[in-house]
Amino acid sequence: MTERTLVLVKPDGVERKLVGEVVVRIERKGLDLVALEMRTVDRELAAQHYAEHDGKPFFSSLLEFITSGPVVAAVVEGPRAIAAFRQLAGGTDPVEKAAPGSIRGDFGLETQSNLVHGSDSPESAAREIKLWFPSL
Ligand code: PPS
Repeated sequence: MTERTLVLVKPDGVERKLVGEVVVRIERKGLDLVALEMRTVDRELAAQHYAEHDGKPFFSSLLEFITSGPVVAAVVEGPRAIAAFRQLAGGTDPVEKAAPGSIRGDFGLETQSNLVHGSDSPESAAREIKLWFPSL
């Protein structure tokens, strides 16, 4: 089942020069890059992207963080791409949830600065890809 997912290398990942590392892992897994672009995120895009978390205690700090520097946004395609990228990323908390060998498990320490985002469902992927890459 071929799927598409939205991947972000968050500002901490760009700052730490881990974009290449993330792209290598996506490609080695066998997934295809359909689009790849460096973007600066304004507050409106950030709020739309994270709309489902509006009201949670970390919402405003999450918006501050994602707008704090450039991100790299990508559309990634392949069989079960949504779950496949989330496996590559590891769990949200890089220490408690992400296994060694995953991106967060290998490079992360903090829940907010957790390096990457991947859509969590087909519905989220469709919504996020439309938001970030309306022409696709
Ligand atoms: S939740 O509450 O279960 O829906 O959270 P989760 O799906 O694990 O995470 C949703 C996104 O919010 C970020 N997050 C946080 N940021 C800052 N502080 C805290 N405590 C925190 N908890 C979760 C998390 O990195 C997720 O971002 P994305 O970009 O979707 O991975």
